Amino acid sequence: PSQLEQFRPEYHFSPAKGWMNDPNGLIYIDGEYHLFFQHYPDTTVWGPMHWGHAVSKDLINWEELPIAIYPDSLGYIFSGSAVYDEANSSGLGTTENPPFVAIYTYHDMAGEKSGAGDYQKQAIAYSLDKGRTWIKFEGNPVLPNQGIKDFRDPKVSQVIQANGQRLWVMTLAVKDRIQFYGSPNLKEWSLLGEFGQEIGAHGGVWECPDLLPFTAPDGSQKWVLLVSINPGGPQKGSATQYFIGTFENGKFTPDDTMIRWLDYGPDNYAGVTWSNLPKEQNRTLFIGWMSNWLYAQVVPTSTWRSATTLPRELSLFDVDGTLLLKSSPAKELASLRSASFEGSHEETNLPSQAVEILAEVDNPETFSITFSNELGEEVTVSKEMGLVSVDRSNAGKSDFHEDFAALHSAPMSWEAKEIRIFLDGSSIEVFVNEGELVMTSLLFPNSPWKKVKVNGDLDQIQIFQLKKP
Ligand code: FRU
Repeated sequence: PSQLEQFRPEYHFSPAKGWMNDPNGLIYIDGEYHLFFQHYPDTTVWGPMHWGHAVSKDLINWEELPIAIYPDSLGYIFSGSAVYDEANSSGLGTTENPPFVAIYTYHDMAGEKSGAGDYQKQAIAYSLDKGRTWIKFEGNPVLPNQGIKDFRDPKVSQVIQANGQRLWVMTLAVKDRIQFYGSPNLKEWSLLGEFGQEIGAHGGVWECPDLLPFTAPDGSQKWVLLVSINPGGPQKGSATQYFIGTFENGKFTPDDTMIRWLDYGPDNYAGVTWSNLPKEQNRTLFIGWMSNWLYAQVVPTSTWRSATTLPRELSLFDVDGTLLLKSSPAKELASLRSASFEGSHEETNLPSQAVEILAEVDNPETFSITFSNELGEEVTVSKEMGLVSVDRSNAGKSDFHEDFAALHSAPMSWEAKEIRIFLDGSSIEVFVNEGELVMTSLLFPNSPWKKVKVNGDLDQIQIFQLKKP
């Protein structure tokens, strides 16, 4: 690849040019997965936010489309979500051609500078042509602000209430907590409940929430509330925590006070899930922004900045009576596998920079896998003394931020049986036991990884060369 394209991922979505942060408006409809994203096309740092747009039929092959929503006199277009208003409850389409409705935050820069406390407001836009073009609702904002500085990132879903009626529920990040609003028509919203004041991690502001129903392994119905937080993550900077509990009449009640993290690596932030997935598939599909606000704007890419994580399927699992969220690589990823090779305890050559490694663990307590290049740079994934670690302290470029070169660890008290690792142009994603523990990290080696070596009690490892989608 040309020098300009160094570090460009092959099978993760990255914008053709310019800056990207959070995934927005994730919606599946008519065989297409839509990915909108926080985007500033003119430079590779954060700026006036647009919603960029890409579509995929399989979560792997992404086609970038023209920008979907542009900033205007009300402000920048911050993060939000999209729903399919099939019954045309908003009246913004027709019953024959129901609207897609995007719900986003307006961020008024002038208001912020002038010291006003109400510069973030919720607004809607709609599309009648499968998300290609968007019309802003003339009655915006639909949810004004009563003077709270951080008031953003609406995630809307349809909730069936106890009486069988459908209600649009907006989960909103409000400073250091979450508020839930309800609406019959996406245009008028009223406060239902609030959560989070004295629970969870509070090292930073709460952002980009998502509220998800799940069936637990014992068959009980649970709700999971994802809450991104910046800073205050377990590896410094930004990260996503989650709560497990019940959601009734607009009130979220957690089962316990435990702090849980979705991904123990430093580089998975602001992730949310797709709306309108086919019910019969019963899947919850997630994608995150593969970066960290700590250094996102200075990582050494040239014409673009940032990519998404791999798409992941979320589910609940149980460890000794504690429920946790599992993030499994989406099954569609298997279609990327081409040639496969057996690895050994000697060093084995890697066929390309885009590979997947699958290893069965013999002795669940001690093993390590090291990827290296001819420059002596390396990254090691290991488990020892109940900690899973990814060590990128000598993994290539790191002088852009003092906290980048580091060893990151995560507690894992239960057995590791299988390790799946995905490497791409500038990342490593580690899934232990199909995602019971996940660590996502950016890496900027000065030359691609050439070799893999395993130590300790790992059975045969398999190496898959991954196709360029
Ligand atoms: C999270 C975030 C959101 C906000 C957006 C602005 O990364 O800070 O809270 O809407 O990015 O780009």
